[in-house]
Amino acid sequence: MNYRHAYHAGNHADVLKHAVLARLVGYLAAKDKPFAVLDAHAGIGTYDLMGQEATKTQEWRGGIGLMTEPFAADVERILGAYRAAVAALNADGGWRFYPGSPEIMLRGMRAGDRLIVNELHPHDAETLALNYAGDRRLKVNLSDALQAVKAHLPLVERRGLVLMDPPYEAVNETQQVALMLAEGYKRFATGIFVIWYPVTTEAFVRNFLGAIADLRLGNILQAELRVKTAHEASGLSGSGLLVVNPPFTLEAELQTLLPALAQRLGVQGLGRAEVSWLTPPKG
Ligand SMILES: C[S@@+](CC[C@H](N)C(=O)[O-])C[C@H]1O[C@@H](n2cnc3c(N)ncnc32)[C@H](O)[C@@H]1O
Repeated sequence: MNYRHAYHAGNHADVLKHAVLARLVGYLAAKDKPFAVLDAHAGIGTYDLMGQEATKTQEWRGGIGLMTEPFAADVERILGAYRAAVAALNADGGWRFYPGSPEIMLRGMRAGDRLIVNELHPHDAETLALNYAGDRRLKVNLSDALQAVKAHLPLVERRGLVLMDPPYEAVNETQQVALMLAEGYKRFATGIFVIWYPVTTEAFVRNFLGAIADLRLGNILQAELRVKTAHEASGLSGSGLLVVNPPFTLEAELQTLLPALAQRLGVQGLGRAEVSWLTPPKG
């Protein structure tokens, strides 16, 4: 397990993922009833973009580093919770400290909501426990994501979200994610599942989407943001999110948000956005 998110924090993929997550938590918090979130691949919660790792790659420059200028009002409304999470960590109005998924979700949670943060890397799990010591909403779990999905679903609140955000280092990661989603859905078919995937090559994306579509779950919204052309040597040229059981109005919001992000984060005008149904809602 080599992946360290600190090298990638704040990049274009994080902007997409965290903006959508913050919005989804907003939907869950809009109702009076408590909800819970299982963050199956949590990372460490906050990142210092002036730290050694982020400085080495400078990936944040192509992500949060390009987000300073405001977008049109309709886009800013959708970005509101994400903007607030970044601002809460940076009193000076900048973005040196960048919120990871646990931080993004905690910012939108109320006293009675619950966050289970799962990490396989013992050092990261320890950092999470230290970073959030004293926050009674949060429980740190040190295990493999599939085991966490099996152990914690269904969420007892019966309302909530599961984030699957693996590093895609293993050759069989696509199969692992499909299995994890199948196991999660079997236990918690009404939950919102968010699955992040990288756009590296067209073949990878086709294979990944095919494996998820083959589960025949229905109701999966796909939101993909590309910042350059995908080919073998170009590394991470974009990323996507699959949202199983999305809130009714999310599609329209993402149709507004993603083109704006593609225009802003695209390299030399090569940004592209796609929002479509991988499998449409049933009925
Ligand atoms: C992409 S990072 C997570 C970033 C985080 N979700 C965020 O948005 O801030 C993936 C994380 O998964 C962890 N990880 C890798 N394999 C795992 C596994 N099998 N089960 C749980 N966590 C795993 C890595 O240590 C890493 O911290």
